[in-house]
Amino acid sequence: MAAEMALVKPISISKFGRTTPKLGNSTTRVPYTRFFTISMSATTSSQPTKPSRKGTKKGIKESLLTPRFYTTDFDEMEMLFNTEINKNLNEAEFEALLQEFKTDYNQTHFVRNKEFKEAADKMQGPLRQIFVEFLERSCTAEFSGFLLYKELGRRLKKTNPVVAEIFSLMSRDEARHAGFLNKGLSDFNLALDLGFLTKARKYTFFKPKFIFYATYLSEKIGYWRYITIFRHLKENPDYQVYPIFKYFENWCQDENRHGDFFSALMKAQPQFLNDWKAKLWSRFFCLSVYVTMYLNDCQRTDFYEGIGLNTKEFDMHVIIETNRTTARIFPAVLDVENPEFKRKLDRMVEINQKLIALGEEENPVVKNFKRVPLIAALASELLAAYLMKPIESGSVDVAEFEPQLVY
Ligand SMILES: [Fe+2]
Ligand SMILES: [Fe+2]
Repeated sequence: MAAEMALVKPISISKFGRTTPKLGNSTTRVPYTRFFTISMSATTSSQPTKPSRKGTKKGIKESLLTPRFYTTDFDEMEMLFNTEINKNLNEAEFEALLQEFKTDYNQTHFVRNKEFKEAADKMQGPLRQIFVEFLERSCTAEFSGFLLYKELGRRLKKTNPVVAEIFSLMSRDEARHAGFLNKGLSDFNLALDLGFLTKARKYTFFKPKFIFYATYLSEKIGYWRYITIFRHLKENPDYQVYPIFKYFENWCQDENRHGDFFSALMKAQPQFLNDWKAKLWSRFFCLSVYVTMYLNDCQRTDFYEGIGLNTKEFDMHVIIETNRTTARIFPAVLDVENPEFKRKLDRMVEINQKLIALGEEENPVVKNFKRVPLIAALASELLAAYLMKPIESGSVDVAEFEPQLVY
């Protein structure tokens, strides 16, 4: 996983420790929670980052737009991937994908050199701070993928060893990505305590169907983010302020492969792609992922400008490309190329900035009084963007859905 998808969250979120999936042999089952609310602001519930010992951070600054850790209903996952129950599982296709993952194209790619430390030492002031935040958030997002895939690999071993092994190999990739980013933090004399994060952070529960939509999107948007930054810096080497970006070309191919695997998984679950509910959810997840990224990035324009990018242009390019890719598999996507979509995103940014400014307000009564209309305005922009005429999409050939075969 590479990108962040934090704007959607279930009403009830699993709490510290209680429902944390373990990497060992836990059989913890996360209780089913009902969906959905859309969190309206990136600005609330911030907690300060706590350094545990010198240079080691136990957590990252939490907000509603912080990358989340996910968990799911693993029993339902087992049913979905049982080849005796689900006849849509194309075993030859998964076997071919497994061989691709076993090839491990990036086995020797993530090797550091002394340029890293030298570049970090040169970076001072606000850019240094924003760079650290970039590394922390990216590391958390990658690690989130590692945790989810690792657990899926473990839980599906008996039911579907091929799919399980692919998940395990994807968790290998994500561990590598997260580790590489964490090594990057060491150039800034910091490190994220990933073991602590595993236990201490909240896990957001998504039903398997939603894991598919969300994870597919986050892999593909991650691919487009990395490749766009890589190509931009190749053309504009003066902005190559830190060598990690040179690794993005091969790195993003991992994310692309992960996305393609989810595409194959969804094809094997045609009930998630071929009805009106699937269309509504597809649009909902597209909107959540795009808006989360846009609001996040517009709060961090210093970072993007620091590497010579125009934040909004960069984001729109990534959104449009991700949407075009996604249209190959999702049954409906948003009309993001309609200029009205960007106008709505920009209005959300303005509202979000007002919400951020409200964070400074000390009087809680005044704060809440001013917050309510802003949240209502943000909700109305989100709804309007969701209700814009969608694009019917999806070119996947799916067999007639036979519910009795699946459950
Ligand atoms: Fe990754
Ligand atoms: Fe990934």
